[in-house]
Amino acid sequence: MAWRLAAIALLGPKSLVAEALDESCAGATNLVQLGSTLQRRDLASYWYPSRGVDDNRSGWSSAEGPFPLKPPKWQFEVAHINFHQTPCIDDQLNVYTGSDQGMIFSFTKAGWKRWEVATGASNCQNPTILEGVLYTSCANGVVLALTMDEGKEVWSRKLTDSLPTDTYTVSATASYVVVPYGDMGHMTGGANGLALLERASGDVRWTYNISAHSPGAHTINMAPCLFEDSIVTSDTSGGIYRLSVEDGSELWRSPPENAGTFTLGGVACGEGLVFNGFSKEDGSGGLQALNLSSGERLWAKSFPQEIHNAPAVGRVYGHPGRTAAIVGQGGPPGAPLPIPDLLKGTVVAVDVTDGETLWTFEPPPWHHHGAAGSTFLQPCMPDLFSGATIDGRGTVYINWSAGGITYALRDANGDGRIDERDPAEVSAFDLGSGATGPPAIAPGMLFVNACRRPSAFLA
Ligand SMILES: *[C@@H]1O[C@H](CO)[C@@H](O)[C@H](O)[C@H]1NC(C)=O
Ligand SMILES: *[C@@H]1O[C@H](CO)[C@@H](O)[C@H](O)[C@H]1NC(C)=O
Ligand SMILES: *[C@@H]1O[C@H](CO)[C@@H](O)[C@H](O)[C@H]1NC(C)=O
Ligand SMILES: *[C@@H]1O[C@H](CO)[C@@H](O)[C@H](O)[C@H]1NC(C)=O
Repeated sequence: MAWRLAAIALLGPKSLVAEALDESCAGATNLVQLGSTLQRRDLASYWYPSRGVDDNRSGWSSAEGPFPLKPPKWQFEVAHINFHQTPCIDDQLNVYTGSDQGMIFSFTKAGWKRWEVATGASNCQNPTILEGVLYTSCANGVVLALTMDEGKEVWSRKLTDSLPTDTYTVSATASYVVVPYGDMGHMTGGANGLALLERASGDVRWTYNISAHSPGAHTINMAPCLFEDSIVTSDTSGGIYRLSVEDGSELWRSPPENAGTFTLGGVACGEGLVFNGFSKEDGSGGLQALNLSSGERLWAKSFPQEIHNAPAVGRVYGHPGRTAAIVGQGGPPGAPLPIPDLLKGTVVAVDVTDGETLWTFEPPPWHHHGAAGSTFLQPCMPDLFSGATIDGRGTVYINWSAGGITYALRDANGDGRIDERDPAEVSAFDLGSGATGPPAIAPGMLFVNACRRPSAFLA
């Protein structure tokens, strides 16, 4: 167990040690499992490199996650360190995450802390890991590239005076990095637009101002679809933009149908389409599908509630031959006020070709104001549902932030309704704290950044 002794030597102050709930010597099986997973995948690619699994932000992974969910094998909990960020998982099943307090962490699959970087800034947001380098940026306007093995700086670039506190994703591809630009301040959250930087140096190639094109709209929780020649992103009112990577010019722009409305959601791409959930003036919501090449809206489906998360796109359990887009409906749980409330939400899977409903799932309502585990001292302000993650068997993992519960969902009997009482259809675990980002996935592993306690579920 030399690797474990080496890991102990790297451990920091006891309070910062990941709490390993399972101390059994699982090293041998880990190595066997790792060996078989590595054969299935190129070493250079990572299981969960960034929010949404791939550059399309599809949320779909070939990895098979745990079902049913057993209690987490380990959790990382330190008073007042709060996580609204989406984590990453590499090919060795090491985990990486930023935090609201600005520390960036890496843990092994077994829960040992590999390294911790104190940036001196706050709100270091959703990272991307790519070819041995982790990219993130923090509220002080600095964009960072760190080595994945030690957290050492590759480059750092002061882009602007400040970057937003919403949970945007610092996106990276072979040639470029995308971050929000034009911070709108803590009360609004989000940014006027975005900046595209050279990946090698952090130099700015161009910026684009969404608010200048769609008055009243801005970016929030930005995680664009990334292509070699273009990126696709959305605004708070459901406007969609396809911008040239070369110079930031518009390849097309689909103006918001519901100008002035607000969604915390984003985009997912796949099957030649762009998917986006939005909100309407009357408190209802919708999901739209646009042609990726032309920007033409192919269909839009209405829902009784607003949409505040990015769709996931992939094959789902119980509906062979269909590709689904999945969104959670419902408004954010808001501030932790000591008064009762009634929060309801629905997860829905629709066919990507026409928006036809494949299945729905309604968790039991939440009777409190604010998300589970949220307090004024340590607020947790997630969307009602995290984005969804779809595994290789079509299981849908999603966090019901209001109640702090992670769900694993399957329409096992294909009847269009996922039944909470059927263990073949629903497995759940209550972490007691909300999670904003989608569950990150790797073979036999689900990693959930609940605000108070990032948690590793292992098969
Ligand atoms: C973007 O445009 C808006 C509206 O014109 C303006 O208020 C804002 O200052 C601009 N932001 C940047 C970063 O240029
Ligand atoms: C992403 O979407 C494009 C366009 O629809 C498609 O060609 C590509 O295969 C997709 N990539 C992944 C990883 O799904
Ligand atoms: C998308 O638009 C392109 C170019 O206009 C067209 O060739 C293609 O058939 C369209 N795809 C769909 C699914 O409508
Ligand atoms: C989901 O969110 C809730 C409340 O926000 C939180 O208590 C719970 O731990 C989260 N669970 C997962 C798996 O993210």
